[in-house]
Amino acid sequence: MKKILLLILASFGLLSVRAADKELEAKVQALLSKMTLEEKVRLSYAQTRFMSPGVQRLGVPELYTSDGPHGVRMEIQTHSWDHADWTNDSCTAFPALTCLAATWQPQLAAQYGRMVGEEARYRNKSVLLGPGVNIYRTPLNGRNFEYMGEDPILASRMCVPYIQGLQSNGVAACVKHYALNEQEVFRNHVDVRVSDRALYELYLRPFHAAVVEGGAWSVMGSYNQYMDQYATHNRRLINDILKKEWGFDGAVISDWGAAHDTDEAIFNGLDLEMGSFTDGLSMEAPLNSYDKYYLAKAYLEKCRKGEVPESVINDKAGRMLRLILRTSMAENRGFGSMNSPEHVATARKIAQEGIVLLKNNGILPLAPKANARILVVGENAVRSLCEGGGSSELKARDEVSPLRGIQERFGNACTVSYAKGYVSGRAMFGQADELPQSLYDSLRQEAVEMAKNVDYVIYVGGLNKNHFQDCEGGDRLTYNLPFGQDQLVAELLAANKNTILVMVSGNAYDMPWLASAPALVQSWYLGSESGHALADIISGDVCPSGKLPFSFAYRLNDYPAHKMGAVGYPGVSPDKLPQTLTGKISQPLNSELLLQSAIKGWKNIQFEQTPGDGAKKDESQIYGEDILVGYRWLDYFKTKVRFPFGFGLSYTTFQYGKPTIQGRTVSVEVKNTGKVAGQEVVQFYVGDDKASVVRPVKELKHFDKIALAPGESKVVTYTISDDDLKYFDETRHAWVAENGTFTIYVAASAADVKGKVSFKY
Ligand code: BGC
Repeated sequence: MKKILLLILASFGLLSVRAADKELEAKVQALLSKMTLEEKVRLSYAQTRFMSPGVQRLGVPELYTSDGPHGVRMEIQTHSWDHADWTNDSCTAFPALTCLAATWQPQLAAQYGRMVGEEARYRNKSVLLGPGVNIYRTPLNGRNFEYMGEDPILASRMCVPYIQGLQSNGVAACVKHYALNEQEVFRNHVDVRVSDRALYELYLRPFHAAVVEGGAWSVMGSYNQYMDQYATHNRRLINDILKKEWGFDGAVISDWGAAHDTDEAIFNGLDLEMGSFTDGLSMEAPLNSYDKYYLAKAYLEKCRKGEVPESVINDKAGRMLRLILRTSMAENRGFGSMNSPEHVATARKIAQEGIVLLKNNGILPLAPKANARILVVGENAVRSLCEGGGSSELKARDEVSPLRGIQERFGNACTVSYAKGYVSGRAMFGQADELPQSLYDSLRQEAVEMAKNVDYVIYVGGLNKNHFQDCEGGDRLTYNLPFGQDQLVAELLAANKNTILVMVSGNAYDMPWLASAPALVQSWYLGSESGHALADIISGDVCPSGKLPFSFAYRLNDYPAHKMGAVGYPGVSPDKLPQTLTGKISQPLNSELLLQSAIKGWKNIQFEQTPGDGAKKDESQIYGEDILVGYRWLDYFKTKVRFPFGFGLSYTTFQYGKPTIQGRTVSVEVKNTGKVAGQEVVQFYVGDDKASVVRPVKELKHFDKIALAPGESKVVTYTISDDDLKYFDETRHAWVAENGTFTIYVAASAADVKGKVSFKY
């Protein structure tokens, strides 16, 4: 009876969705039927740096976009990249998406999306340029902090509620950067070569979830190339996969300056061209050059000559109208809100739940005696980390620095002093300040001397949002921490054995000093409430529960993109590509060939001119590790990892019972065996025991974050779906599950399996 009722309700839901869709389509068609050719074409290119026009005559408003994804960016000048310097555009800076991913809490992603959408709505923005869901392939990628880690299922589970929450305000998500934009070096042209299997299993997976499950209303085409064609107007990525295969009915928006060709833009599915003749951030387009855009006059002329079928013109304009109807013209949109107490509290909560405790010999939570002396060291304790980093920069209304957070929390009972320890220069795009060594030496010596005379040192360092750090437009140059920090940290640890390390970054880094560190806290870019959230964790007011969304390997070469050499990262000129692996430029690579080669360390590859590549000059790269990215690679080659994917400590302890399976449902009991309340992320990975192709040892399929009081236990369950068993068979272009036995791993991280069960399919 209950089932039947549910079915009826579900079909009603479906009907009402369909009715809404029908109504929307009727409006799109009604508008199209009234529009001139000129008006239709005009919808498809920018009118200012961040806005595109509507149709004034018909009451269709403009479309205002804004970065994204961690808050609503400050206003930018109408026709340049300069800040507009308004006084009323300060926002709540939410933690970076890496931090959101590290919460492993989809409910927080839903709140994040809803609230960032409310801020966008208040600022009258209809498209928020985010979330970013590119895969963490190399720890050098300057934009990893804007993405959600190395695992496509984690990124998918987190981006879907973000998008739904955001769009519930009538503000469109613009999921970026579609696709294969996993690095910033050569980002404006690098031609990425990848197998279909890796494409579907890893790189497209979160985009698929964003569009099909999240219902994203727009997608941003990336700068790079794929199969010798710019991604932003790439026939295969956009027309064949996104629009035909996945049924995406929204608009494809170019990244700023990512369009390069009129014909391709017209016929390969680009719907809105933004930022042309700029490299995305620095170059200035000549004022009022909008009519020179690829989808402007040149497009119109082709239409007038009858070279563009009406169906193409109407499809493009129709998609833009649909986007405007869903957002700027949506009835019953709320008015939004900025900097509400709820937003600030949620930003803090996400930060608390995303911070990852990596090491602790018991010094944390910090409970200093009255009058204890605490020295805070490190530039990141006082630096604004909302500024810089490129387009995701934010002007936070209030940014609580770590120093302020520590002072507020401990300053009543203890003395809190501060030493900078190192400096880094301005947060600038495309430039890094050169500072004299003598400055580093004197700051280091001062901090180390001060460290000798205190009870505790809290070091707050890591990366920042400078060029060549966690910043758009460039990648990091080394795996080590910058600005002489390795030496500084080592000397601090030697000077005071009670030195707690807090590292802020959106990336993994080397830790030559780790063995002598009593505690290490991984902080991400935490936004407005950074200092409060850090103090909450350090003091134990909140029990840490974040888990790494990517692996912290020992060495750069443990990441296969680097192990492969320049062909894998950052790319080489086409004549240096290995012929045996490459095949024809216009065809996807062969996954099995790549994997077999990878297994042999790519020793069998020859470097010769690839037939069929013609005069191509742009750097190309091969995603030669194929599907074995991150822990999939480390697992397969049994490589020891410093801190595995999914890892994070707590102030309490959890005991896992023996998992059982009944039918398709795996159950495991988890108990809090410690003294404080805490949260655990129970992870379920699936591995195919015997397959006809190379498969990862195990892949994350499900997770659940549970809260447990001391002594409390809960049973966590996971029901295996057919999809969880499948790999992408590129010869059949289909997802396939092979018969046989699968192992389900119940784990506390990719390297901490608590129990296994078998499942026969
Ligand atoms: C970035 C995008 C951003 C756009 C607008 C580009 O440089 O790649 O992520 O949304 O600029 O600022």
